[in-house]
Amino acid sequence: MRKKKTLIQIRSVIKIKNMAMTVEDVKIVELPKFTDPRGNLSFVEQLNHIPFEIKRTYWIYDVPGGENRGGHAFRKNDEFIVALSGAFDVIVDDGKERKRFALNRSYYGLYIPAGLWRTMENFSTNSLALEFGSIHYDRADYVEDYVQFLKLKSNGEI
Ligand code: TYD
Repeated sequence: MRKKKTLIQIRSVIKIKNMAMTVEDVKIVELPKFTDPRGNLSFVEQLNHIPFEIKRTYWIYDVPGGENRGGHAFRKNDEFIVALSGAFDVIVDDGKERKRFALNRSYYGLYIPAGLWRTMENFSTNSLALEFGSIHYDRADYVEDYVQFLKLKSNGEI
């Protein structure tokens, strides 16, 4: 477990040197879980379970059945997503390969480095997606057109 976290952190450092991220860099991270008859407890720490400094936290809730969210890529923003409640899928795409991650436990997080196209779908009723980001909200960081994403990816610009 510890070795795995270290590898994610090493990849984050390598990214600074402009290495293009692929779906292989997306990681499910198992979080600490304290089971307790009074109710369970889990937590996350920046630069530990989350391999970046957290600049922003937001959450997605009350998603109507059949809706999708987040069809875009980030240029710089790394993310970490937890299904705090319920379940949903995150589909990650690097322009060549696509991978689906089913999040359905509150003690797993999904680390998605910047430079990948990602979509969220199949939200269960009352699901709650908690997201941590490595930069403040900046619309200029979004790539919202998939064709443009493919172009940026093939030019090594993202
Ligand atoms: P957006 O990231 O586009 O949602 P999604 O990718 O899931 O479709 O965000 C939706 C709206 O919320 C958008 O108008 C901007 C606003 N927003 C903020 O102001 N700050 C934030 O940190 C986020 C994530 C969104």
